[in-house]
Amino acid sequence: MPIIPEEIVQRYQRLKDDLNQYNHAYYVLDDPSIPDSEYDRLMRELQAIEQDFPSLVTPDSPSQRVGGVALDSFSQVVHRVPMLSLDNAFSDSEMVDFDRRVKDRINLDSSQQMTYACEPKLDGVAVSVLYKKGLLERAATRGDGSVGEDITANVRTIKSIPLRLQGEKIPDILEVRGEIYMPKAGFNHLNQKAKQAGEKAFVNPRNAAAGSLRQLDSKITATRPLEMCAYSVGQFEGENKPDSHFQMLQMLGKLGFKINQHIKQVKGIDACEDYYQHLASIRDQLDYDIDGIVYKVNDFRLQDRLGFVAKAPRWAIARKFPAQEEMTRLLDVEFQVGRTGAVTPVARLEPVFVGGVTVGNATLHNADEINRLGVCIGDTVIVRRAGDVIPQIVKVVLDRRPPGAQLIIFPERCPVCQSAVKRAEGEAIARCTGGLFCGAQTKEAIKHYASRKAMDIDGLGDKLVDALVDNDLIYSIADLYDLKLESLVNLERMAQNQIFGKQPKKK
Ligand code: IVH
Repeated sequence: MPIIPEEIVQRYQRLKDDLNQYNHAYYVLDDPSIPDSEYDRLMRELQAIEQDFPSLVTPDSPSQRVGGVALDSFSQVVHRVPMLSLDNAFSDSEMVDFDRRVKDRINLDSSQQMTYACEPKLDGVAVSVLYKKGLLERAATRGDGSVGEDITANVRTIKSIPLRLQGEKIPDILEVRGEIYMPKAGFNHLNQKAKQAGEKAFVNPRNAAAGSLRQLDSKITATRPLEMCAYSVGQFEGENKPDSHFQMLQMLGKLGFKINQHIKQVKGIDACEDYYQHLASIRDQLDYDIDGIVYKVNDFRLQDRLGFVAKAPRWAIARKFPAQEEMTRLLDVEFQVGRTGAVTPVARLEPVFVGGVTVGNATLHNADEINRLGVCIGDTVIVRRAGDVIPQIVKVVLDRRPPGAQLIIFPERCPVCQSAVKRAEGEAIARCTGGLFCGAQTKEAIKHYASRKAMDIDGLGDKLVDALVDNDLIYSIADLYDLKLESLVNLERMAQNQIFGKQPKKK
């Protein structure tokens, strides 16, 4: 083995420490401390030293995050401390029951208030990451809670997970548990790239995170935008074990882990409810998916007294948000023609309560999207509605396909004016070629012209434009300026007759 000059050893150690520090600032604290160009320069210097002196390379080198040799299979890992799951609460009253049960068990007067740690319930994959003497030794999935899979190679590629713990007081053994998830922005970017490459897109960020961790080739995982937030500890051997969950999380933060920024200690069940309402109100603005709130009795001694039932602790509960994905049936597909002639397939669905509202329609975007989903009329589909985003069909539940499911045929003629529908080379959108001969395009052009951002014509809403065109009172934007009061009054009268016509006659 060549003798390595002392100054190189020292420079290498310095580079490793600095790069790990910059990495922490960037990926954990979201607060970059140096420009990317400087980071890249230092990384190249480190890699050059590693190339010349491979014996220097240690597993905590930041160069080791790019993934290594592909595995044939994942080996099994036995969890020394089982990885439990959580009981769920779906209403305020179930939360009140939980609080009462907790207080009864520890003989706390019902008027006294329990301190809870409140955390967002991240929608990802639970993992256990084991550190020995401060070095990442092994990472595993939850599996059935007792036995999981060894995903160390993949976890090493996630930059918000420290390869070496920071700080002075490092436990001899520390098993950190948390959720690996894919932030929404990274998920959208990944899916966009997949669609462009003609590959299958992921259904949601959770599936994308799970799929990315299941890769036998860690080089693929390294390209996926994954993050981890720590939320508890399994094995702990060392001094200074904190007394409460909240303090433990602060300690994990100091050791270099990402901790969710919305975690809060509160006193009493009413404060838990306030926290739930607050998080529900900002849920859609968060950069990652959450599916509820986790409440944990804060004091570790009380947690020990409360213990477990079956596979869940008595000291914690997950209060779920209304689901953002539900199953329903695709009843039909209609084709709408927009202002520029774009023909958009719109799914008519069996109404379903999802994301807090009843959804009856969802966009299918274009013919490529229909092909990508492989959806037929009659299929059971998964509908997603997150925040104000238009409801989407994200997947077909193929094993529920009924025998008579019908293929969706994209029309060759405009459903409104019968002109040819054409799709330009390289374009995803098919368009009606009728131009302003097409009633639908005329209507949409006039609506656009009258809208607030354009001419802002008071009182000329969508319904009136539809009625004016349908009753042959206008054919173009210019006709608006020739409209006679008389025609409008007649239209009003016709409309009223139509409404009265539908009413049952009084006897
Ligand atoms: S604590 C015994 N905290 O929810 C405590 N879990 O249904 C076990 N999860 O498998 C977990 N965010 O994947 C905890 N802040 C959080 C969480 C969280 C998400 C997941 C975790 C777990 C599942 C339980």
